[in-house]
This record gives sequence, structure tokens and C-alpha cells, in this order.
Amino acid sequence: MEEHLTVGRVAELAEVTVRTLHHYDEIGLVRPSARTAAGYRAYAVADVERLREVLAYRRLGFGLREIADLVDDPATDAVAHLRRLRGLLLDQRDRAAGMVTAIDKELEARAMGIRTTPEEQLRGVGKQLYDTIGSAYPATRRTEPRIAARVWEALGDARTVLNVGAGTGSYEPPDREVTAVEPSAVMRALRPAGAAPCVAAGAESLPFEDRSFDAAMAFSTVHHWQDPIAGLREMRRVARRVVVFTHDATDTGWLHRFWLTRDYLPEVAGLVTGRPSVDRLARAIGARMEPVLIPWDCADGFFEAYWRRPEAYLDEHVRRAISVWTRVGPQAEKRAVDALRADLASGRWAERNPDLVDLDAAELGLRLLVA
Ligand SMILES: C[S@@+](CC[C@H](N)C(=O)[O-])C[C@H]1O[C@@H](n2cnc3c(N)ncnc32)[C@H](O)[C@@H]1O
Repeated sequence: MEEHLTVGRVAELAEVTVRTLHHYDEIGLVRPSARTAAGYRAYAVADVERLREVLAYRRLGFGLREIADLVDDPATDAVAHLRRLRGLLLDQRDRAAGMVTAIDKELEARAMGIRTTPEEQLRGVGKQLYDTIGSAYPATRRTEPRIAARVWEALGDARTVLNVGAGTGSYEPPDREVTAVEPSAVMRALRPAGAAPCVAAGAESLPFEDRSFDAAMAFSTVHHWQDPIAGLREMRRVARRVVVFTHDATDTGWLHRFWLTRDYLPEVAGLVTGRPSVDRLARAIGARMEPVLIPWDCADGFFEAYWRRPEAYLDEHVRRAISVWTRVGPQAEKRAVDALRADLASGRWAERNPDLVDLDAAELGLRLLVA
């Protein structure tokens, strides 16, 4: 008969409280599959395995809701979890080592009476935004084939392709030799088994020689870069051809183009102030610009994807995979979602947006830059 461990024994071995284990059971995160004759919780080998994954993700800083999505993913088996956890832990170790080195340098400088600049002090301590929100990404973010076809066509006959800000690799062409670049350890760890090799780096400083690739692409990432112009110039330097999918957020009509920003989330305007316009981005690399319409049933759950399916924005999983919702902060998010929920229930949303139901695709400022 399979051996079972009591809740007390599991708590002792894992160095967590029995209360924690009861809580995990109550929220369905780790359910002991058996009970002892006396009615106590009893953990089978598979339950312990799942608990180990949960605790390891917890120590890496993931939230319980994100962990539930990760450990419930049927596409990830125990070995894939171990590989991913190993990668994340190594990255954490490297980051800690980097911070120790930076602290040692500063101690040395201070001992010699030299003050470090704020830039030097802050470099390396910041967490990538996607290290915080990345684990929620795979739930709704995947390839939209109609938009992917546009990107792949724009890559022309390129045989070698660099994908910058690659994330989980949703838009990597399957029939070319792809190299990915991604600064977030969490995003790198979420790349599926068999995905293209991925280098840990930022767009602003690509670790490649001039003209190393036939083409460089960047999908839905430029708005996250610290210095978008520098990043695009780097792409230009390392590749003959550059293809960028981004959005036009500086057009005066932009806030009004999409009902979500216009009627519920005007805070988005504050997120784009100071960013270079899409025209400036295009000029920096001498690119032509093509509009990309968003199909009503867009498969990739980015910010504008659900323009004809407003109920989707009420779903927490949908919002957590869209960085805008985290960036505007919990207060604005709650206000916007409550207002949208009320308007959908009362019919006000439908009254305000009568034209959308008949549209198959919408122009919401998404652009393809090709140079
Ligand atoms: C919205 S995701 C898009 C990911 C992927 N291109 C896709 O379409 O699924 C944005 C990505 O940009 C990455 N990123 C953030 N800052 C970056 C930088 N300076 N250079 C390159 N990538 C960056 C994030 O870590 C994240 O993976």
C-alpha cells in the first residue's frame, strides 16, 4: 500500500506550519488525497511532490494564485517544473552575487571617500516588471495567427532571426533559425520546451556583432524598454532587416480610440507620457509603417484584444496577463472593473458602443514598422 504522511509530519519536514497546510488544502492548492483511520489529512507521494513545487515557487516570490496556475498547467510535468525552478533559482543566485559585488564596490568606494551616483546605486537592484507579472502570462497570451502571418511576411526571406523582448516566444517563426533575447528570468523560464535558445539581455545593449542576423523582430515589447530608440538602433546594428509590432499611443485621438481607455481607464495616458512617438521610432530606423487591425476574436490576450468581448476584462486571469492593469495600480483597476461590470449589467456599455458588434476587425493604433 502506498505510504502516506500525516499533516504534522509533512509540516515538520517542509518547515511550514500545519495551519499553512490546512490553508493550502482549503483553497485547493495542495489537497491531501487521503485520510487516516482517525480522520486526519494524509499526504501521498504525489501530494508531497505538488507541495514541494508550491513551496519552491513561493520561496521565489510567486503569489498563491499564480502558483495555482503554474502547478495546474497540464502541459508542465514534474520534470519541467524542476527544470524551470532550477533556472529561476540559478538566476536568483546570480542576481544575489551581482548585488554582493555591487555592494563590495560601493563599500570600497566609500572607504576611499568616493560617493557613488544614484544611477550606480540603483543599477541591478530593480526587478524586471515581468519577473513580477510574468507567471500570469501563459494563461491568455499566445500566438494570434493572423497577426503572426503579417510579422512573418515582413521578415521576408530572412533565414536567421533575432527576437528581442521575446517573452515566451509566441511570435517566433517556426521555419527559421531563431535566437531570442529576454531580460526577465521568469519569462525565460516560461518558454516552452524546445523553444529557440534565449539569451538574457536587454534591447538597449544586444550582445551580438554587427550584422549577425538576417532580421531582428520585436513584438509588443518596445513600450517596456528603458530607452526604445537605443534598443531599435541596436536591432538595426545587428540585423539587415527590422520588424517591430507596437502601438501608436501619442496620436491625440488615441485615448478616445478605445472605449476601455476612454470611458474606464484614463490613467493609461500617464503611462505613455514621455515615451517617443511611433513616428519617432519609425524615423530612428528608417521604417515604413503599416496599420494592423485587431480581429474581434484575437487569440492573443493583449490590452486591446477584447475590444468586442468586454466581459473578458472582468476576468482576473485576463487582466493579470496585461501589464497595463498592474501598472495603473489596484485602485484604478478596481474602479475601472467595477464601472465596466455595472455598465455591462445595465446595458450602458452596449448603448455607448453600438457600432462594435458589426465590426470584424478594429483599428486601435497597432502598427507594424518594417525597415
Ligand atoms: C508584452 S511582453 C511580450 C513578449 C513577447 N514578445 C510576446 O509577444 O509574447 C513584453 C516583454 O518585453 C520584455 N522586456 C522588458 N524590458 C525589455 C528590454 N529593455 N529589452 C528587451 N525586452 C524587454 C519583458 O520582459 C517581456 O517579456
